[in-house]
Amino acid sequence: MSDSYDVKDLGLSTEGINRITWAEREMPVLRLIRERFERERPLAGIRVSACLHVTTETANLMRTLQAGGAECVLCASNPLSTQDDVAAALVAHYEMPVYAIKGEDNASYYRHIAACIDHRPQITMDDGADVVSTLHSTRREALSDVVGGTEETTTGVIRLRALQREGKLAYPIIAVNDANTKHFFDNRYGTGQSTIDGIIRATNTLLAGKTIVVAGYGWCSRGIASRAHGMGANVIVTEVNPLRALEAVMDGYRVMPMADAAPLGDIFVTSTGNQNVIDWHHMELMKDGAMLANSGHFNVELNLEALAAWAVRVRQPRPFVQQYELPDGRTINVLGEGRLINLAAAEGHPSAVMDMSFANQALSAEYMIRNHASLSKEVYSVPAEIDADIARLKLHAMGVSIDVLTPEQEHYLNSWTIGT
Ligand code: ADE
Repeated sequence: MSDSYDVKDLGLSTEGINRITWAEREMPVLRLIRERFERERPLAGIRVSACLHVTTETANLMRTLQAGGAECVLCASNPLSTQDDVAAALVAHYEMPVYAIKGEDNASYYRHIAACIDHRPQITMDDGADVVSTLHSTRREALSDVVGGTEETTTGVIRLRALQREGKLAYPIIAVNDANTKHFFDNRYGTGQSTIDGIIRATNTLLAGKTIVVAGYGWCSRGIASRAHGMGANVIVTEVNPLRALEAVMDGYRVMPMADAAPLGDIFVTSTGNQNVIDWHHMELMKDGAMLANSGHFNVELNLEALAAWAVRVRQPRPFVQQYELPDGRTINVLGEGRLINLAAAEGHPSAVMDMSFANQALSAEYMIRNHASLSKEVYSVPAEIDADIARLKLHAMGVSIDVLTPEQEHYLNSWTIGT
């Protein structure tokens, strides 16, 4: 057992082990990587500090890094996303220091990040860039040991690019989010399914016949819109980007400004990466009983401060539902405190999709250790060969085979002389 940790209850570890093993069944690509890592030990002795959602899938990633020889510590990347049984299992069974408790307050959240930085990482692995941002602000003394990092999510990559633009990024970081085998699948199918899962677990509401307003039409939002439509909801999309708005229109959704959608929606879901996307002047127009959820990385998309100041009473009718009563008697239901609803009220993306995201993480960490000396202090893409290998391995694991180009077809594709 690890002797350094902060988790809710080590007594939950058996349940955690069972669920980690269950998730592993759907993570064949990561399992193959783990088997190779066990043989080759590419991360032998490397200190890795990971700040990720502490889920069964993350546990399988951590086991993979450990199999490769890494000395890992893990903290949560969101105060509400930790699965306490998984945190307990990692400490008690997999001998890994973990600092994460579901529902931790902001002070504990940052104390746990500090504990991860005290590990003096050579590799950082972030989901949302909170370790990177802490290292670049209050913990600069620890930067000297870091040779590289990886970043899991869109919001984190946006923060890293801002650091790079200001010329302040202190080490190379691979944007795992931008791999095709990550965002085409995790962001779309993972967020799509798990967001709907979170809303249903929190409320037990019927989606058929409801009007769902989806804010944003990036990869995550289009997954949410498509799954909500599949469940029989009428979907309205709001956007600020004309191209994405046009795509949403041609995908068959109604598109309008949030102020027009506000009186029509029964359920609102934000996934834009921006703040106050649903503001009080939108809430002012909403129906009695409207439900608001966020699936973006940070809890800034709903203006809950304004709602709290305006409401006369707040009740908790169910776990993960806070019901704000307004002065005119209407109620607005906020799900999961406006934090990532798929991880707050459900279990995050299913294992089969995290298989590819975390295969990218494991292989990017290996790549970083092999190549950091020749990299600059920039945000890098996942190497195309790694991305393509993961797609091939996933198809193979799913028992799907595909065609190969004939020599004539190869020649045709490489030629400019053959025309009509
Ligand atoms: N992000 C979204 N879903 C996740 C999961 N199941 N595990 C880790 N990170 C996630």
